Amino acid sequence: MTQDHVTQGDGEAPGLADAQREHWHRTYSAHPGMYGEQPSAAALHAARVFAAAGARDVLELGAGHGRDALFFAREGFTVLATDFSPTGLEQLRTAAAEQGVTDRVTIAVHDVRKPLPLLDASVDAVFAHMLLCMALSTEEIHALVAEVRRVLRPGGSFVYTVRHTGDAHYGAGTDHGDDVWEHGGFAVHFFPRALVDALAEGWHLAEVHPFEEGELPRRLWRITQRTPR
Ligand SMILES: C[S@@+](CC[C@H](N)C(=O)[O-])C[C@H]1O[C@@H](n2cnc3c(N)ncnc32)[C@H](O)[C@@H]1O
Repeated sequence: MTQDHVTQGDGEAPGLADAQREHWHRTYSAHPGMYGEQPSAAALHAARVFAAAGARDVLELGAGHGRDALFFAREGFTVLATDFSPTGLEQLRTAAAEQGVTDRVTIAVHDVRKPLPLLDASVDAVFAHMLLCMALSTEEIHALVAEVRRVLRPGGSFVYTVRHTGDAHYGAGTDHGDDVWEHGGFAVHFFPRALVDALAEGWHLAEVHPFEEGELPRRLWRITQRTPR
């Protein structure tokens, strides 16, 4: 396993996302493996979508400590797992060695506010569970989805999940504007449906599936969309 790319949000005035990187570092340090070892329901769905499309390699954005990246690797996909928290990724690296999948997992510290560290049309599938709804502006989210489209091969699949404006924490805590609210130290961009539709322009939007996760529960949408062939 290699860590061959390091691109972070350095060199700019610190803002909310930079403070959030510190918050995620503290959170993963205090609670190693906090999301557990089992893959998310979203990853189970994504693996089926990716396999049906004949995908072999997967880029994961916001992989954290890797519950889903490791599952994709165990399923036989080659995975590039990225996150802006080196702390989460170190936990992923250790778990990958324990599970004997280091040959199929590469980790890269990367802040999604920067261009993705991949060539055009170089990956079959992209997965992002609760990443697009982090402390990103609407403009940054649009730029990121354009980047996902750039790196996907024609007919490539993108499965992502976001907390939405029907979530119990929407409107709770500190208002950062642009539908970003900070509660308990975590900043979340709660998605209105119009944003999902805008991000799917020029894609084939296969599904917007509502689901819940955790004890709150978090209310999310799972979006599956494909680039044209
Ligand atoms: C809600 S957690 C989900 C983690 C993982 N997808 C999972 O479900 O187990 C969001 C993750 O996004 C990462 N993250 C937040 N903002 C980011 C950014 N601007 N660039 C890259 N990663 C980011 C955090 O470090 C954290 O690991």
